[in-house]
Amino acid sequence: MFETLEMAPPDAILGLNETFRNDSNPDKINLSVGVYKNQDGITPILDCVKAAEQKLLAEETQKSYLSIDGSPEYAQLVKQLLFEGAIDEARLATVQAPGGTGALRVAAEFLSKRMDRNRIWCSKPTWGNHVNIFQAAGLEVDWYPYLDEAQQGLDFDALQGTMSEIPAGDIVCLHACCHNPSGVDPSLEQWQQMATIAQQQGLIVLLDFAYQGFASGLREDAACLNPLLESGCDLLICNSFSKNFGLYSERVGALTMVASSGDAASAALSHAKSTVRANYSNPPKHGAAIVTTILSDEQLTAQWHQELADMRKRISDMRQRFAQIMIDKNSPHDFSSITEQCGMFSFSGLSKLQVDRLRNEYSIYIVGNGRINVAGITDNNIERLCDAILGVL
Ligand code: LMR
Repeated sequence: MFETLEMAPPDAILGLNETFRNDSNPDKINLSVGVYKNQDGITPILDCVKAAEQKLLAEETQKSYLSIDGSPEYAQLVKQLLFEGAIDEARLATVQAPGGTGALRVAAEFLSKRMDRNRIWCSKPTWGNHVNIFQAAGLEVDWYPYLDEAQQGLDFDALQGTMSEIPAGDIVCLHACCHNPSGVDPSLEQWQQMATIAQQQGLIVLLDFAYQGFASGLREDAACLNPLLESGCDLLICNSFSKNFGLYSERVGALTMVASSGDAASAALSHAKSTVRANYSNPPKHGAAIVTTILSDEQLTAQWHQELADMRKRISDMRQRFAQIMIDKNSPHDFSSITEQCGMFSFSGLSKLQVDRLRNEYSIYIVGNGRINVAGITDNNIERLCDAILGVL
């Protein structure tokens, strides 16, 4: 039976990892998948995570199923991390999910199957997997403009213009911070305007919050939630702890729905739970147990804040150095806006052909749309990277 199948195309991001692994060049550089690397080019396990795991190993007594919506302690901590008491928590329905991707899938299926929504609007460009997830859940994907012509800044007028014409009841997917793939974020004032449009147009906002703490800080990065709450628009938040706790392979995230009342939140939770049950039954325990252990312990939380700040600073330093080296090397292309963007990613502005040349001639892997994972640049690879980019420009 399977002989009738043609090969499915490799994934635009994770597929590159496989090609990278098979590349025998000892100087190869992987700036494709969004994974943080330290100065030694290693994706570290955070010290606070190691400490929490030791605690869990000593204290854990059973590995029975979690409930369908996951651990209640974890859900409580997620709500605090997102809102810090800015809303009556009875109005929030939180479901633990396997990573931000799992949360997005549950949210999309909930909206499509339980709320009879048919269409979601994504920024052009957006994270490639958004389209896969939303379509798989039965939603049609449409686009709102995001970047200016140089692809280095926000074209807010265009964004606002399209958003104001989205039909009532449609969903709009917004990136809370560290826009993937561009690193270009709206200002707080622009968030206020988007929240007002969403409310006036009767749109449902699906907020992808995968990088809390990677732009300016945990609280600063959650600032967009306030105008969204104040506007009273319908809001679902998908957050991930892959990046900010470095828990990529543990698959830990959550979907949080903001309802107008406690009763509405309970109803939403019941439907999210049936969606989960029909997908993966209940979430994996370990990653969420690590997050719960850290966030319930003052000392471990302080350690996490510091480790997160260190990651944020290293990425920001690499942005500055990259831009400076390119100036020093008289680059024909202006890379200065990389220092204004934030989070893991930046759009290099390189064409598909140039991206292919980087891979084939220099063993440097970036995503086909020109996205660079700045968090993978180190002191050891930055010179070679800059020379290679100049070589293909
Ligand atoms: C990325 O954008 O590289 C990450 O979010 C990893 C992924 O799953 O694509």
